[in-house]
Amino acid sequence: MFIQHSKVPSPLQKVLIEISINLYLRNMEQLLQKIEAYKNEMTAFKVPTAEVLEDFRIKYLGTKGIVKAVMGEMKNVPNEKKKEFGQILNAFKIFAEERFEALKATLVSGDNQTTANIDWSLPGDPIPVGTRHPLSIVRNQIVSIFKRLGFAVAEGPEIEDDWHNFTALNLPENHPARDMQDTFYLNQNPDYLLRTHTSSVQARVMEKQKPPIRIICPGRVYRNETISARAHCFFHQVEGLYVDNNVSFADLKQTLYFFVQEMFGKEAKVRFRPSYFPFTEPSAEMDISCTVCGGKGCSLCKHTGWVEILGCGMVHPKMLENFEIDPDKYTGFAFGMGIERICQLKYRINDLRLYSQNDVRFLQQFTGAV
Ligand code: PHE
Repeated sequence: MFIQHSKVPSPLQKVLIEISINLYLRNMEQLLQKIEAYKNEMTAFKVPTAEVLEDFRIKYLGTKGIVKAVMGEMKNVPNEKKKEFGQILNAFKIFAEERFEALKATLVSGDNQTTANIDWSLPGDPIPVGTRHPLSIVRNQIVSIFKRLGFAVAEGPEIEDDWHNFTALNLPENHPARDMQDTFYLNQNPDYLLRTHTSSVQARVMEKQKPPIRIICPGRVYRNETISARAHCFFHQVEGLYVDNNVSFADLKQTLYFFVQEMFGKEAKVRFRPSYFPFTEPSAEMDISCTVCGGKGCSLCKHTGWVEILGCGMVHPKMLENFEIDPDKYTGFAFGMGIERICQLKYRINDLRLYSQNDVRFLQQFTGAV
């Protein structure tokens, strides 16, 4: 003879299951209330000393502790409810463990100390003071020098359109001078790109404001260059623009000479060399006497005694026309310098990558500078 086991419970089995579930539910309700009470107890627990913390551990988390006992209830739970109840018990266990860690942390950090056991004569914990980035220090110096000459600060977007970055500045599409400033295009037709110089801000100002214009444009710019000690895919500039009646090349020279003397000291000399920029005519590059050797010749100035620091020139009449400023009535000068370059000459930083590596050993050297 053989007995066939059926998966369907008999009526009697059904009644028994029902009774056991009801019993379970009543017990569980009590247990849940208990769990809540334990949780409140744990929340109210204050830990003034290591011994009390140890008492907490033994009471709740020890081998004969409350958490273990509550977890033991699992074996009385009917199979159908095991999953649901298991989650409740687990959450309780995690609650107790986290509470323990939190109390431990207050003990370690001393947050729970009463004023009675603090030794007020002990020296305080030092609070490390952050430092300004060398590029910010130098940018602020440059800005403050030009502000004293009456230049206002103008800012613009780093994502530019083709018009403000190139075309309006007399750099039409397919002009070979665009090769000098290859950049990152975010969109084509219409073209959006990362600005290659802050001359784009000058364009935006001329669009809105008519002469007299006297502005400087500090900001980050981007170029598609392979990263090395001497080139990076981004750097910082301060460009300047002055448009008014009778602005001459003599004004340009005197303004920049004043800037150099304020920045590098009274003994610094300047020289101008002819150059080419599409947005200025005539254009020049300005060198200063080497800040390391004072002009005698060293490795920084490649034994010439001079180092190049900026490009400049008289604003091209075409550019003024682009912004409906009458070139017969107004003239202007513009210049642009890299802050990294000025910073290099001031602090002898000869690797461009240092500026953006976030190495605290480098940054800490500027502690206290403002
Ligand atoms: N925009 C030029 C550059 O980024 C610098 C410059 C500005 C030159 C103004 C002349 C006049 O190289």
